[in-house]
Amino acid sequence: MIYLDNGATTIFKPQSVAQAVYRVLSSGEYGNPSRGAYHAAVNASEIVYETRQKVARLFNVPSNSLVVFTKNVTEALNTVIKGYLTPGDHVVMTAYDHNSVLRPIYQLAKRGIKNSCVSLNLQNNLVDLNKLEDMIRPETKMMVCTHASNVIGNLIDIKKVAKICHRHNVILVVDAAQTAGVIPIDMQEMGIDILCFTGHKSLYGPEGIGGICFNQSIDIEPLVSGGSGIDSYNHSMPNRFPEKLEGGTLNVPGIAGLGAGIDYIQNQRVKNQGEKSIKLADMFAHQINHNSNITIYTNLTAPHVGTIGLNFRGINSADISDYLNDRGIATRAGAHCAPLIHQALGTTTQGITRFSFCSLNTEEEVRQTSRIINHLAKIVGEDSGR
Ligand code: ALA
Repeated sequence: MIYLDNGATTIFKPQSVAQAVYRVLSSGEYGNPSRGAYHAAVNASEIVYETRQKVARLFNVPSNSLVVFTKNVTEALNTVIKGYLTPGDHVVMTAYDHNSVLRPIYQLAKRGIKNSCVSLNLQNNLVDLNKLEDMIRPETKMMVCTHASNVIGNLIDIKKVAKICHRHNVILVVDAAQTAGVIPIDMQEMGIDILCFTGHKSLYGPEGIGGICFNQSIDIEPLVSGGSGIDSYNHSMPNRFPEKLEGGTLNVPGIAGLGAGIDYIQNQRVKNQGEKSIKLADMFAHQINHNSNITIYTNLTAPHVGTIGLNFRGINSADISDYLNDRGIATRAGAHCAPLIHQALGTTTQGITRFSFCSLNTEEEVRQTSRIINHLAKIVGEDSGR
């Protein structure tokens, strides 16, 4: 199989990741972290501590305790959005955002939290940041934006967004689902107040682990209340990070796997890994015979990750993905849980076929895929007389 759905999850994980997960599950040496002073509980706490430290170093988080583990980026975003905003507040989002940003915000609208959306510039398919500053109001408390579109792969200029937000005391939350492990992220340098990430995509961890990185401790209500291993007589979650936002037993096998995944990408260097996937995606886009039967939505001249979104004239994206699947190529069609970009591009019915590359893909896979695409374009052209 040629696997080109790395935007959904990476499926070929480094052996070291599988081994780290297996060791926690099979050795009988890892108990419940922060829930005992015996050897196995301490071992588990150590794994959690080490991975927190690796995450903090990877994203330049000021302190390990400002790294909170969640089960994925969706839970991370829900925690931040629902825990921080209160009735009367206003939040800004963008046309690139995923339902993990949009749905929590729509849910809060029912409780009197207003929202605005920065639209897409259809001249270049980029989020129109010129419109951002005008959307900020005195009651705007938060801007949430994805770092890269999961549909077309183009990036949002986070430093530019951060400057605008900070001029107005607005907290910037970045959804790094598509960029963590692909684009070097330095929270301090980029001006990110809160970074939400998942472990199972380009950090090469297993599913079920993600997190939130805070630039500083903020006043936030936990999404989940429960055991924290400390302060048990308090009716509320302990008022300290990370325990405040980590109710219940942590996913130690997942955290161990994430730690090994971060070691792997640190060894390979994030920059090289990202550059390789972007190079493969660009090669793919350039090997496609550009003609009126194919529309590529990714702006290849603007910064992007290794993701290309395209359509064949008049053909449903699901049919294209099925055709490719029959030839051993895995892609993702449809709406990709990102409704606003499809509404803007006019692709709500057709969807888009997405090809998302990672550094483990090869140039030969690119050649095979583009050959099939070009063959298909020819058939479509003959059928429509073009
Ligand atoms: N949000 C993930 C994707 O883009 C699952 O496929």
